[in-house]
Amino acid sequence: MRIVVIPGTNRAGALSTRLARQAGEHYRGLGHDVDLLELALGPEFLEPLAYKEPKPAVTALVARFLAADGVLFVVPEYNGSFPGALKLFIDMLPYPQGLDRRPCAFVGLSAGQFQGLRAVEHLQQVCGYRNAYLYPQRLFIGESHRQFDNDGNLVDAKFAERLKQQAAGFVQFIAAVKPKP
Ligand SMILES: Cc1cc2nc3c(=O)[nH]c(=O)nc-3n(C[C@H](O)[C@H](O)[C@H](O)COP(=O)(O)O)c2cc1C
Repeated sequence: MRIVVIPGTNRAGALSTRLARQAGEHYRGLGHDVDLLELALGPEFLEPLAYKEPKPAVTALVARFLAADGVLFVVPEYNGSFPGALKLFIDMLPYPQGLDRRPCAFVGLSAGQFQGLRAVEHLQQVCGYRNAYLYPQRLFIGESHRQFDNDGNLVDAKFAERLKQQAAGFVQFIAAVKPKP
């Protein structure tokens, strides 16, 4: 399977990106292809014509998303929600094939005590509205600045284990919900 892992921000040095990398390793360990789709959204994403006549920089990122058998969103909490950069990217996805019946899983990350719950639930609302298949086993991590060592790995083995369990469960979920070709 091809798992697209999206750190849900374009912020330089984002901890979500570290977490997304680590999550991706669990899918690789299970024998799946992983595409870490970083939201390096250039000015082409902000052009008024981007919706109708997207430039190659837009279509290239969108194509990587569309190749996913399953998408793992690693979502930081920004202002009580998921980042605008991620919404802009989602708004560039074609309708309905962008999210329709596409399996999606979610990890939330925040500096504060709410552990990315609102960010994930807002994003689930969008994905659910667009008829994505939502994997119910989510993972939430708070106090983000305490969670990583200098190599970018999670310091708490409990979270690393939950990421691993989520990966194992999500690939089973994809196999169960994906219509046979
Ligand atoms: C623009 C912005 C808004 C943020 N808003 C919140 C917030 O509402 N609640 C919270 O707990 N943390 C908030 N944070 C902190 C992030 O959740 C924190 O940096 C965390 O590590 C995940 O974001 P990152 O992937 O950018 O590192 C915010 C960070 C930024 C850059």
